[in-house]
Amino acid sequence: MSATPAVSVNHLTKVFKGHLGKGAFRAVHDVSFTVEAGEVYGLIGPNGSGKSTTMKAILGLLNATEGDTSIFGIPSTEVASRRSVGFLPENPYFYKHLTGRETLHFYGKLCGMSGDQLKSRAEEMLALTGRLGLAQALIHEPQLLVLDEPTAGVDPSGSRIIRDLIIEFRTRGITVLVTSHLLEQMQEVCDRVGIMAHGRMVREGRLDELIAVENQTELVLENASPDLLAKIDALVKAEGGGTRLLRSGHPRTTLERLFIEATTEPKKP
Ligand SMILES: Nc1ncnc2c1ncn2[C@@H]1O[C@H](COP(=O)(O)OP(=O)(O)O)[C@@H](O)[C@H]1O
Ligand SMILES: [Mg+2]
Repeated sequence: MSATPAVSVNHLTKVFKGHLGKGAFRAVHDVSFTVEAGEVYGLIGPNGSGKSTTMKAILGLLNATEGDTSIFGIPSTEVASRRSVGFLPENPYFYKHLTGRETLHFYGKLCGMSGDQLKSRAEEMLALTGRLGLAQALIHEPQLLVLDEPTAGVDPSGSRIIRDLIIEFRTRGITVLVTSHLLEQMQEVCDRVGIMAHGRMVREGRLDELIAVENQTELVLENASPDLLAKIDALVKAEGGGTRLLRSGHPRTTLERLFIEATTEPKKP
């Protein structure tokens, strides 16, 4: 990993000035985190917790009230910080009268691309993602991809495809910053997550560490006989010192995995 983080957020605060009789609103309050180059970082939190506002500050789409943000070491206030960034906004909107291919050519030209290079890149990205929003964000070979709620309004198989793509982007060396209001959806792809609530960062770190229950240990056995289970139970009881068998039985899959498995089973002839 490079020494310069892909994204750096330092004590970011954003206060929206009140208007039409509403008072000022602090959407982001003293938030700090870094996204290392090459990792997938998930910004997670309920609706209204300040995730999109934080992303917009990083992208230079709004000015920080306090604190600062930078991309690959360049402050977000400088245009150059956005040169190698792809952005998928929440609910992206595209021109109705352009085909997907034309839209990609348009965005590619905005980034200074042209000719056969642009054409083949557009084809490759459409084939890879199958989604115009993502293909648009990737057209100019960004080093950092910022995805705001890419799985919102997408069914479980669709969000599975998006997660597989995020893993593919990481394999290609692209750093990904992604928001979601659904923790489970991001669980499988994020190296690290930050959890936001009411504009503050309330937890931050490696996902596996955040969700580990430190004083518990899990054993998953295949083909265990009732006899063996009884022996294990007896061993644990004999151990004493506060060691307890909390539960034994068949592990549960997540509802989502069950849904995916059940809906992608091969059809019977
Ligand atoms: N331009 C704005 N003016 C006033 N309030 C805003 C503006 N943008 C967002 N907010 C408010 O800031 C809070 C955080 O919004 P947002 O960052 O979009 O949250 P999230 O992306 O986590 O759902 C919300 O209460 C929202 O209503
Ligand atoms: Mg949002």
